[in-house]
Amino acid sequence: MRKQLVAGNWKMNKTLDEALILVSEVVNMVNDEAKGDVKVVLCPPDLYLATLARYLEPITQMALGAQNCHQKASGAYTGEVSAPMLKSVGVEYVILGHSERRQYFAETDQQLAEKVDVVLENGLKPIFCCGESLEQRNGNDFIAFVCSQLTAGLFHLSAGQFADVVIAYEPIWAIGTGLTASSQQAQDMHAALRQHLAGQYGEAVAENTTILYGGSCNEKNAPELFACPDVDGGLIGGASLKSREFVNIVKSF
Ligand code: 13P
Repeated sequence: MRKQLVAGNWKMNKTLDEALILVSEVVNMVNDEAKGDVKVVLCPPDLYLATLARYLEPITQMALGAQNCHQKASGAYTGEVSAPMLKSVGVEYVILGHSERRQYFAETDQQLAEKVDVVLENGLKPIFCCGESLEQRNGNDFIAFVCSQLTAGLFHLSAGQFADVVIAYEPIWAIGTGLTASSQQAQDMHAALRQHLAGQYGEAVAENTTILYGGSCNEKNAPELFACPDVDGGLIGGASLKSREFVNIVKSF
């Protein structure tokens, strides 16, 4: 059975005080209410990772994630954060290739492939994002486009390395817009991505890879999305900033 996972991508939100309140509320609710086999990952701004690690460390079901990291392990890259640094403060997952990073920070496929490598080399797990724009969705080849993002960012890895990779399908037109992919649209894309993985790595790797859905996922639509056979959880933006709603999403399986 592949791992079910719900990750909260806080993006550039919350002051330290607000972050401390949110994390303690989520920790308490997950402890009291959540099924033990769903992994819950919180991805706050880097600035808070070391502080929040102490809250999450005692809870095996929860883990800390970063929202990005640099492709080099160290060096003269003012303002950047590296994979070894993230590892050293207790981070386990790193979101890579989010559409906001690709769009606003011009991250390329080549950089993302390097980031995937440095993350894995340092014992971290990438949550690799992919997804099409509305324009692409309205064309004919959006499935081939999203598959090509996996090819470019991940297919240099060995089958063994793939055990630590999580994929997040996030249609750009659904991010922060209130427009969610229907469960059928999500299922169709997830099944196509899994088939694409099978073509490269074989059925076993494809069947064992966790594929998350992201894009206006909330407590109302999560149960239907998570019921799809190829949807293994969610990468949650806006709804992860509210403890009650986020934990309700965690409980949606
Ligand atoms: P929203 O849930 O706010 O649409 O954001 C999704 C996302 O980008 C998570 O990475």
